[in-house]
Amino acid sequence: MFCEELFLSDESKTIEYANFLADSLVKTALEISSALVIYLDGDLGAGKTTFVRGVLRSLGYTGSVKSPTYTLLEEYDFSGRLCIYHFDLYRFTSPQEWEEAGFDEILTPPALCFIEWAHQAKGYVNPSDLTIALSVHNNGRMCRITPESDVGKKIIALWKK
Ligand SMILES: Nc1ncnc2c1ncn2[C@@H]1O[C@H](COP(=O)(O)OP(=O)(O)O)[C@@H](O)[C@H]1O
Ligand SMILES: [Mg+2]
Repeated sequence: MFCEELFLSDESKTIEYANFLADSLVKTALEISSALVIYLDGDLGAGKTTFVRGVLRSLGYTGSVKSPTYTLLEEYDFSGRLCIYHFDLYRFTSPQEWEEAGFDEILTPPALCFIEWAHQAKGYVNPSDLTIALSVHNNGRMCRITPESDVGKKIIALWKK
């Protein structure tokens, strides 16, 4: 089911794909000694937050998944076993805000970290292990996944198995 580039015809397909990918993301996040960092690229409305909601649902989280557009960060703690951080840096006016907000100090592993608009904190934000790019295509979304580190490459290899 994994594909570097995949067409997701509606919202339910985005959720389903996030569900499928979540297992390996969580497994890897629990194994490595730093936070697993995933950049979510794409315009407003591309489905980035929907993807994070899919991952959270597959972990059994049933609460609301708010877009961190105003709060910058939403945190989900899974009984101290794993923390999921969901950033939306759209409202950053300068990259230093990453440090000023104390974000460089909070990403303690084991953690799975999704970042929307990461380039807004370029030079400060943690580098990406995987980039998931979403774009509007017809009435659905195109989803492209690119590894950005050795860890990212290993995850892709797991999905290809
Ligand atoms: N594969 C898809 N096809 C069509 N619409 C989708 C798809 N995935 C998500 N959406 C819709 O896109 C809209 C914006 O989603 P959201 O996740 O908030 O975007 P972003 O976080 O990128 O701004 C939502 O209304 C959602 O239902
Ligand atoms: Mg969003």
